[in-house]
Amino acid sequence: MSVVTTSTSTITSTIPSSLSGSAGAATVRAAEECTAPADCPGCTSAPLPVLGRDVRVPLVTGGEVGYAALDYAASAPALQRVWDDIAAYAPYYGSVHRGAGYLSQLSTDLFEQSRETVAGFLGCRPDDELIFTRSTTDSLNLLAAALPAGTRIYVFDTEHHAALLPWQRAEDARVEYLPAPRTPEQAVASLDVALHGAPKGPKLVCVTGASNVTGEIWPVRELAAAAHRHGARIVLDAAQLAPHRPVDVTALDVDWVAFSGHKLYAPFGAGVLAGRADWLRDAEPYLAGGGATRKVARSGDELLVEWNSGTARHEAGSPNVIGAYAIASACKALTEAGFDSLVTRERELLDRLRDGLADLPEVRVLSLFGAGSARVGVLSFVVQGWNSSHLAAALSAEYGIGVRDGLFCAHPLVRTLLDTEPDEPGECGAPDAAPGERSLNAVRVSFGAGTPEEHVDRFLGAVRTLVREGAAWRYRTEGGRCVPVR
Ligand SMILES: Cc1ncc(COP(=O)(O)O)c(C=O)c1O
Repeated sequence: MSVVTTSTSTITSTIPSSLSGSAGAATVRAAEECTAPADCPGCTSAPLPVLGRDVRVPLVTGGEVGYAALDYAASAPALQRVWDDIAAYAPYYGSVHRGAGYLSQLSTDLFEQSRETVAGFLGCRPDDELIFTRSTTDSLNLLAAALPAGTRIYVFDTEHHAALLPWQRAEDARVEYLPAPRTPEQAVASLDVALHGAPKGPKLVCVTGASNVTGEIWPVRELAAAAHRHGARIVLDAAQLAPHRPVDVTALDVDWVAFSGHKLYAPFGAGVLAGRADWLRDAEPYLAGGGATRKVARSGDELLVEWNSGTARHEAGSPNVIGAYAIASACKALTEAGFDSLVTRERELLDRLRDGLADLPEVRVLSLFGAGSARVGVLSFVVQGWNSSHLAAALSAEYGIGVRDGLFCAHPLVRTLLDTEPDEPGECGAPDAAPGERSLNAVRVSFGAGTPEEHVDRFLGAVRTLVREGAAWRYRTEGGRCVPVR
């Protein structure tokens, strides 16, 4: 028996020494052993090794190529480190907060340690609560369900649907949708004006840290100051910010933060809501069920329920210990890698990407705040004469590059950026249609700490060839997707 140290934490309970030091490493390929083929030069040049970097995919034109994952904003690949930590723990997996057995105690320890690690990563205040959820969507719906009666919500119509839609379901709530600002200063001024005229009572502002469409960084600290000046609270949707920049709730002075594990290199079905305890404490439990209750008794036709306080109140059901531990492991890996160097490298890749696209006059990069604004590694664009779905399909089928096309679950924002009307078709366009000057949807390319330079270069080369020479294959629409004709 021995104490086992995984990269995230020491599992203080004793577990068999057979695990010590090597578990996980035996079943997964370490970064140095990458057997990527010769057509993947520099594929190990990324700061943090991720799974899937040596995966090869077939090309419609014949042969195969190393897959270039450039859709991190949707779901980032798992960090090798996260996978190793999970593999080391997996044999010791057990129920959380429920079992008398040794592995249940160990798993409960690990789950609670993970909560502390993530709270540290987020710079939480001592009396904040951190609840493990399924995702950002789940976290924001939880908060929406916990709002005091009559809360007024202020949200820009540029938000991802996960941050735009939950509020109108909140009981008794009134939502004010603020128009798309064209500069960060305008965002702050517009919020200031809206809150200035707000009636008394609870108020909540919801804002993204970085746009999932443009990658542009929002002035979170200034928006938080504006919210607090008018007695409102603020929740930060950090789904796109947390994988790219430090998110410190104390320094930013936001009341809550939400993010998803699968965008933070920890794709095991968990997310986070962290922040002020009071509204959460006073709310009905988000889900009714085991774990959220202290006592349940039947009295005639009624059940008398005493609900738990604290995090347990909103974590009914068996907790996702693997998901929580994976997030903690990713937080640790990002912290150790150092955001300073990650950000510097991300800027270099972004500059390379933008310079390459700027060489193509047919390409228009979408931006709300203008070319000089700060961004994370997320960029959307349209190409004159191309339907975006067609371009994305050709990038995949002919070059093995995975990007995303559509309206990115931010329909009002993309329509604003493309200057299209709400009743025009979006999401999947019509690839068979004659090439037009205006695309009804966009292509998004996004990357992160696992992206080698080669992927960005291959992407630029592919876009250049497609724009100048056209696709080498024919495509059609099938089930709403653009696919190669076979
Ligand atoms: C800015 C932003 N917020 C929220 C979400 C929702 O995240 P999830 O699908 O993990 O709930 C996303 C997902 O793309 C996002 O980009």
